[in-house]
Amino acid sequence: MSERLEDIAEKMMADGKGLLAADESTSTIKKRFDSIDLESTETSRRDYREMLFRTDEAMKKCISGVIMFEETLFQKAADGTPFVDLIKAAGAVPGIKVDTGAKPMAAFPGETITEGLDGLRERLGDYYKAGARFAKWRGVITISEGLPTWGSIKANSQALARYAALCQEAGIVPIVEPEVLMDGKPGTHSIETCYEVTEKVLQTVFADLFDARVMLEGMILKPNMVIDGKNARKASVDQVAEMTVKLLKRNVPSAVPGIAFLSGGQSSEEATAHLSAMNSGYDLPWALTYSYGRALQEDALKAWGGKTENVAAGQRAFNHRAHMNSLAAKGNWKKELEKAA
Ligand code: 13P
Repeated sequence: MSERLEDIAEKMMADGKGLLAADESTSTIKKRFDSIDLESTETSRRDYREMLFRTDEAMKKCISGVIMFEETLFQKAADGTPFVDLIKAAGAVPGIKVDTGAKPMAAFPGETITEGLDGLRERLGDYYKAGARFAKWRGVITISEGLPTWGSIKANSQALARYAALCQEAGIVPIVEPEVLMDGKPGTHSIETCYEVTEKVLQTVFADLFDARVMLEGMILKPNMVIDGKNARKASVDQVAEMTVKLLKRNVPSAVPGIAFLSGGQSSEEATAHLSAMNSGYDLPWALTYSYGRALQEDALKAWGGKTENVAAGQRAFNHRAHMNSLAAKGNWKKELEKAA
């Protein structure tokens, strides 16, 4: 018998743990590897992900689930162990990004619609057989002069709801990720604008999830934090935390078991500080944790640099970031701990 969606979601939101977003598409991981001057090949991608998944302490203590790109879900470590088995052995849940990317939206210049619904039911069946028990779909909303439009919010929200319903039918927990970008053009919007746009987006998404008969107890929300544009950052940690908690409390039903934030281009330390602030001093109806990509991996990628002799250094860096975020998920992170390391 297949596991209950509620139980998978609960495992994903285990206390002091969060998700490792390692689901960079082939084109995104190429950009990350470009930054360390490394060619992106199936082998270099495997070596990089293997380094992360074999960081024993971080994986066992801090990571409840790993979001993978399709290639990685079916990939094996150098010694032939399937990555799915490595992840399960660490006690984490294997997950899969199932959207096929944000594409330019016809008639909506400057906006995108996320694709991947065609054939999704069949793909979900294959992913389930391969061991995936949760999935991710990211809708992207851009703040810019005159944007976002209602048309793009609505289209992306409906796609998220259709995706979520298909996942639940397949026994897979959907991570519903509507991301309001912090680095739109010009990326100088205020935190109030981010609040207003994110509120509209979440209200639309939950209305569409209800209409699509998605069971809230069997899903995870992956939102952006309420934060000002990347090119005009000035909001304090406390302000980001306060406005994000206010927004979520007003717009996310308490039946949703957990909220796992994206880092969205925040620095690694900012993403940790914000999460910790939200987990201390607020009475929250859901678990709040991380589902970070860049904010968990940036330091590890740099320390590794694509070199075999640096695997241990990369793992130390990943271990440290994972532990800092684990503390943040319990509201116990302190800046001094960064220096101590
Ligand atoms: P970032 O934390 O780098 O934003 O990535 C998370 C993610 O999964 C985006 O879809």
